[in-house]
Amino acid sequence: MGKRKILLRISVFTLIIALCLEMYPNDSAQLQDERQSAVHAVEATAIAEANALSSAKNAIAALEPAAPRHVSGNGSAKPDKVGQPAGDTAPSLPQQPAKHDEAAHKKEAKRIALTFDDGPDKTYTPLILDVLKKREIKATFFVVGTQVAKYGDVMKRISAEGHAIGNHTWDHADLTKRTAEQIAQEISRTDEAIRKALGTGTKLFRPPYGAANDKVKAALADADQQLIQWTVDTRDWAGTAPTEIVEKVKKQAKPGGIILMHCFGGKNGKLDNTIEALPLVIDYLKEEGYTFVTVPELTADKKPA
Ligand code: NI
Repeated sequence: MGKRKILLRISVFTLIIALCLEMYPNDSAQLQDERQSAVHAVEATAIAEANALSSAKNAIAALEPAAPRHVSGNGSAKPDKVGQPAGDTAPSLPQQPAKHDEAAHKKEAKRIALTFDDGPDKTYTPLILDVLKKREIKATFFVVGTQVAKYGDVMKRISAEGHAIGNHTWDHADLTKRTAEQIAQEISRTDEAIRKALGTGTKLFRPPYGAANDKVKAALADADQQLIQWTVDTRDWAGTAPTEIVEKVKKQAKPGGIILMHCFGGKNGKLDNTIEALPLVIDYLKEEGYTFVTVPELTADKKPA
C-alpha cells in the first residue's frame, strides 16, 4: 500500500472519530424545556458545509460530509417535527488549509458571526446592543415580524449601529407545516415590516426551529431569500447557565461559524443568562483570535473570487 493511501486512511479514521465526538453532546436534560420557539433545529448551513468541505478536501476525497441529521424536539404547543440536539452541529472536519491558498484560508479561519433571534423587544435587545456597542462588534439579528411591528424604534437602533438584519417569519411559524402560499406570506409580510421600519428589506432568512424542507427552500428561492442556519447552538433561550453557554461556544466554535443566541423569547420570558454570557463569549472568541463579522460579510467571504 502506498504512503499516500496510508495517509488517506489515517485521515479518514481521524475524521470518523471527530464526527462521532460531535454527535453526542450532553444537553439532553434541557430537551423538555418549554418555550415559544422550543428546540431549534440545528442544520448545517450551506456556508459551514462549504467551509468544511473546502478545508478538508485533501483528506476526504473519498468521503462525503455527514448529512444534517434530524431529531425530534418539542414545539410551543405542538410537537416540533424537525430538530436536533443543540450541540449537534454542522459537519465539522479537521481544518486542512489548501496548499495554494493558505493566506486566504488563514484570514477566513478567524471569522465568526454572532446572531440573535426572535426580537426585537424593548428589554433584552437594547441590553445586547449595549454589549455589542461597548465591544465594537457587529452582529446579525433575525427578527420576527410581529415584534418588528411593535418595536420599530429598536429596529432602527439595530440598523443604525451597523448590525445586519434577517427575516425570521411573521409569527415564528414552523414553515414545514404551512402551505406554499402561507410560507410566501410569512416571508413577504415580515419583509414589508422591516422595510417600513428601516426603508430597506433583507435577503437573509432563518426559519424558526431551523425547519426547512424542500417546500420551504423553494419558497425562499422564489422570494430571493438566502437560507441561513447556524453552527453553534448556545441554547441560551432555555435558561442555560452563562458558564455552560460559554462551554458550548468553546466546544462548537469553528472558523466560518455562526453562533445562535436570542434577544427575545427566553424561557419564562427571561434572557438574563444571555446578557451575562455574551461578554464572556465575546472575550473568549477574541482571545482565540476570532474577528466578528455579520452574516452578509461571512457569506460574501465564502463566495469564490
Ligand atoms: Ni426563533
